[in-house]
Parts: sequence; structure tokens; C-alpha cells
Amino acid sequence: MEQKRDIEGREDVEFLVSTFYHKATRDELIGHFFTEVAAINLEEHLPVMYDFWENILFQTGRYHGGMMYKHILLNAKEHMLPHHFERWFALFTQTVDDHFVGPRADEAKRRAQMVIQTMPLKLGGTLFP
Ligand code: HEM
Repeated sequence: MEQKRDIEGREDVEFLVSTFYHKATRDELIGHFFTEVAAINLEEHLPVMYDFWENILFQTGRYHGGMMYKHILLNAKEHMLPHHFERWFALFTQTVDDHFVGPRADEAKRRAQMVIQTMPLKLGGTLFP
């Protein structure tokens, strides 16, 4: 069995994010946001996500923002609803817990939860005043 340890660097971040995307893009509830609504090119999108999470966990300064704007555009095409956010968060925490344990693993889940708690309000406030 895999011995769990904390997220220790870029390689672990890439593993975590790509494993999460493998699940999220195939998920029955949220997969279509990636594959159809935004129809992202994973080869371009994944490195951005690696930078985003590496910056959160290791303060690299490599991610330059604009995350909310992307989700506002996405939400305008198809509304992101509470059950979508719940599924995103469940898949993310499950992926972290499946492979990692420690303070950075906890921090990743905590930061994801913070975004999950505020993003619906920001989207709602922007689009449905
Ligand atoms: C229902 C939940 C979510 C769905 C369906 C979703 C879906 C997506 C999609 C399809 C994109 C690509 C948009 C594009 O390039 O046009 C994207 C970008 C992104 N998402 Fe999410 N997302 C969700 C929640 C989150 C959460 C909770 C976080 C952070 C913890 C997050 C972080 C990001 C980041 C950093 C980007 C890249 C933005 C950029 O290109 O700079 N997302 N998301």
C-alpha cells in the first residue's frame, strides 16, 4: 500500500491536480463544465492549475489571478449550483486524502473550502443582483 506523506513540492502538486482532473472531467455532475461548457484544452489548463496550487502551498508567486473572472464567464454559460460545488469539493478532498496527509494537505483542503464558500456568493452577486 502507498505510504501517505505530505505534499512536498511541484511534483506532488502536479500529481494531485492531474489526479483530481482525471476524476472531475469524467464526473457525471461536473464533468461537462470542463469538457463541454468551457471545452478546455487540458494541456494548456493543467499547468495553470499546477501554478495556482503550487502558489497556494509554496508561495511561488507564479499564478497571476483572474480565477473569479473565468468562473463568472463559465457561470454565464451554465449556472454553477450548490450541488456542483459540493461535488467539486468532495472530489478534491477525496483526492487529497487518498494520497496525502499532513499540514499542506490540510491547507489545500482548507483553501479549497474557502473558495467553495465564497465563490457562489460572488457569482450570485455578480449575475443575479
Ligand atoms: C463547481 C465547481 C467548479 C467548476 C465546475 C469549475 C470549473 C472550471 C473550469 C471549466 C475552468 C476553466 C475555465 C476556462 O479556462 O475557461 C476553471 C478554471 C479554474 N478553476 Fe475552477 N471550477 C470549480 C471550482 C473551483 C474552485 C473551488 C477552485 C479553487 C479552489 C477553482 C480554481 C480554478 C482555477 C485557478 C482556474 C484557472 C483560472 C485561470 O485560467 O486563470 N475552481 N474551473
